[in-house]
Amino acid sequence: MPHQPSRITVIDTDPGIDDAVAILLALNSPEFDIRGITTVAGNIGIATTTRNAGRILVLAGRSDIPVIAGANAPLSRKGFDTADIHGNDGLGGVSFPEPIAQPAGHDAVAWLAQLLDEEAAGTVDILALGPLTNVARLLTEHPTSASRIGRLIAMGGAIREPGNIGLKAEFNIAADPEAAEIVFASGQPVTLIPLDVTRKVRADRAYLSALRAAAKPAATISAELIDAYFQSTTGGESRPLHDPCVMLYALQPDLFGCERFGLGVDTGNSGDAGALLFDTNAGEISVAMTVNSPAALDLLRKRLIA
Ligand code: RIB
Ligand code: CA
Repeated sequence: MPHQPSRITVIDTDPGIDDAVAILLALNSPEFDIRGITTVAGNIGIATTTRNAGRILVLAGRSDIPVIAGANAPLSRKGFDTADIHGNDGLGGVSFPEPIAQPAGHDAVAWLAQLLDEEAAGTVDILALGPLTNVARLLTEHPTSASRIGRLIAMGGAIREPGNIGLKAEFNIAADPEAAEIVFASGQPVTLIPLDVTRKVRADRAYLSALRAAAKPAATISAELIDAYFQSTTGGESRPLHDPCVMLYALQPDLFGCERFGLGVDTGNSGDAGALLFDTNAGEISVAMTVNSPAALDLLRKRLIA
């Protein structure tokens, strides 16, 4: 399939095992002109997510791409991590080189606003793979710059699926419910990629073998990352590839079927904090609710072995 024209892209992320696979997918796809990686505390603390972004870029030979550190905590509540899943190093203990440079900056929000102001309106996409703290601050503190965002595609939430943080909440939203509420209420067009579809895009052992058989760096390290995911979680014979679904949607939206919802967020302090409150009669937010899983997995594999 001929490649779509390249789009200016920023990845906002908390790497994170599946974030790393998603970043490697983007780096191996010419449709993404990646201008920077902004980091956020999430799966693990900000120092580690920022270090990991640098490690992934060194491994991919793309240390030319700047890493800019962002929020070290949620907007207004105590954060929590998922080191039990992603490991204390955030990458499941998989061997990566060390960053060769310090982060290019420590104010991801100001950096994002400047990029948006410098580029033509509507030409900069943000792919959000972690808690929405940086995105919410961009919308709040730099509304004019934020109005120039092209596509905002975020992994998060659960509509008709059970949550993965308690019964209803999904981690990226539960980690900073107030930030998600700001994003959903802002009027900024956003496409949400929830557990309803990401749990259907699953890698099994045969898939890992196919990645390894290609003997290509991005595929081999992705297989190791997903293998680490197998070690740290239970889930039968396969594991969901949450964050890569954001890039897969950006690459080929017709792999997904979307519905429009009015979205709110439970910002209380119960075990359901971060759960999505949705109104099927409203329609501000486009939410991916179906996915062609075999085709999505095939596209991921083809790009990682390229
Ligand atoms: O719920 C899945 C999300 O939480 C993914 O982004 C994963 O990296 C974790 O951050
Ligand atoms: Ca993530």
